Amino acid sequence: MANIHQFDVVVVGAGGAGLMAGLYASRGAKTAVISKLYPTRSHTGAAQGGIGAALGNLEEDKPEWHTYDTVKGSDYLGDQDAIEFMCNEAIDAVLELEHMGLPFDRTPEGRISQRPFGGHTNNETGKPVRRAAHAADRTGHMILQTLYQQCLKNKVNFFDEYQALELLIVNGKAAGVVAVELATGELHTFHAKAVIFATGGHGRIFEVTSNAYAYTGDGAAMLLRKGLPLEDMEFFQFHPTGIYKLGILITEGVRGEGGVLINGKGERFMPKYAPTVKDLASRDVVSRAIYTEIREGRGANGSNYVYLDVRPESVIKYAALDGRTNPDGSPYTITGEEVLAKLPDIIDFCRVYLGVDPVTQLMPIQPTAHYTMGGIPTNKYGEVVIDDKNTVFPGLYAAGECACVSVHGGNRLGTNSLLDLVVFGKHSGIKAAEYANQVDFQELPGDAEAGARSQFDTLRNGSGKENAFDIATEMKKVMFDLVGIYRNEKDMRSAVEKVRGLQERFKQVRVTDTGRIFNTDLLNTWELGNMLEVAEVIAHCALNRKESRGGHSREDYPERDDQNWLKHTLAWKKDGNVSIGYKPVVITKYQPKKRVY
Ligand code: FUM
Repeated sequence: MANIHQFDVVVVGAGGAGLMAGLYASRGAKTAVISKLYPTRSHTGAAQGGIGAALGNLEEDKPEWHTYDTVKGSDYLGDQDAIEFMCNEAIDAVLELEHMGLPFDRTPEGRISQRPFGGHTNNETGKPVRRAAHAADRTGHMILQTLYQQCLKNKVNFFDEYQALELLIVNGKAAGVVAVELATGELHTFHAKAVIFATGGHGRIFEVTSNAYAYTGDGAAMLLRKGLPLEDMEFFQFHPTGIYKLGILITEGVRGEGGVLINGKGERFMPKYAPTVKDLASRDVVSRAIYTEIREGRGANGSNYVYLDVRPESVIKYAALDGRTNPDGSPYTITGEEVLAKLPDIIDFCRVYLGVDPVTQLMPIQPTAHYTMGGIPTNKYGEVVIDDKNTVFPGLYAAGECACVSVHGGNRLGTNSLLDLVVFGKHSGIKAAEYANQVDFQELPGDAEAGARSQFDTLRNGSGKENAFDIATEMKKVMFDLVGIYRNEKDMRSAVEKVRGLQERFKQVRVTDTGRIFNTDLLNTWELGNMLEVAEVIAHCALNRKESRGGHSREDYPERDDQNWLKHTLAWKKDGNVSIGYKPVVITKYQPKKRVY
């Protein structure tokens, strides 16, 4: 017998955005959150260093400065109305989390503590400003726990370990999703008036990544298969400091606390690339600087990594050279105990995975694929929009990393992802509930599960000889090597061809486990299909954009070209091919100018 559930609002994904959306939607409508993971295992938990808000708790700060920094950080591709909206909402968003019980670190006076982060500045001096509200280096983890508790308190209905497979559309409106219950392999239909996608990013398409195994672009791929567009997919962020080879995130908060980058010759190199903010330049700038050092032979031990140094004696030395002071004007210092208290998780990661103690030793790091700036196009209320006129798709919403509002444009500032998911998670939840209260359920077709069943059956019954793991390994290498930090025509053409070749091989993939219960072989293979779709779109859009902007850095077009490319990309999958369109960038106060850090 079919498993059919009916809710006004169904949220897909239970990371920060999904939980915030679920919480707000549940205040006005009967709401369910379905997630392929147990909610508190979601990738938001990996966000370390802080959430950005101009609270001004330790020094002067203003939402207007936050807005300008975000516009500049985006390399002027972010939509300025949405950025202003987010930065103005930031203070209330952080206070709301505090009132929900989030255990932020405190100043001696009892205020929420804040630390500097890349690209966040005092707009008058150009110097770093303390804007990242933090809970040690576990800020995302704390947000996840806090929001999950709030959702439970508010009696949100959770369907944990249910993988959404297909969006249902009836009469041009979202009408629910079909999901598989991982414990049984049974399909379930979630009939809904409104559907919110909060399905996260797709960093697992790259070989070295900070992203969780779950980040396989499921939401983006599901919408591509429904003929809906994705926006600005060429823009993918490489975080400067991932653990060498493993990619595990080492928070920018390390540099916020005074840590510096050191090349293989023992030199601090960021002042050469960003004379004012140095190691706290925006991520695209720092990642390219690291790669330049490596390419020019100054990697550590002649290899493709450099060092991050947070040893107290180094921090004190460089703080003195930079003239960094405490808020009261006294010289900035730090002790080993303070490093441990402020950055406990990254100390643990380095000790466990590298056998390196950051209090006394240098950390080997390399840039790691971290964040997708592009995604499902939405307006600032989380409504999915589908063309250059921002036409709303009825009943469909997206929030968090899977969405492109666009507040990050070509490059996201650290701490703005947690802010994005809280602000736009909330608004998508509010809007979805409002919408659901105004409309009736669409009538579902007789066999609503047919599409999802056929996707799984095709994979389960495949008799080819290809192995999903081999295809995935090759895709990750292709994307990391050919569509990574530095890009060029030849490499990206080759990447498009190779990904298409891998898609062909995928048609011959064989799933060896044909069982029903927790069939991770089948699920991972389905996820690989999603990653291949998304990888193709990324490579195609990156090849198409003939300029350098933010995280999209082309050796053959090294300059930003506002004349021709100050526009968002929209990409559709039509008849098996990627087709491209554009939409204008919203510019309100800040005319594009050259970025200097
Ligand atoms: O460096 C970090 O802690 C990462 C934060 C972010 O991506 O916003």
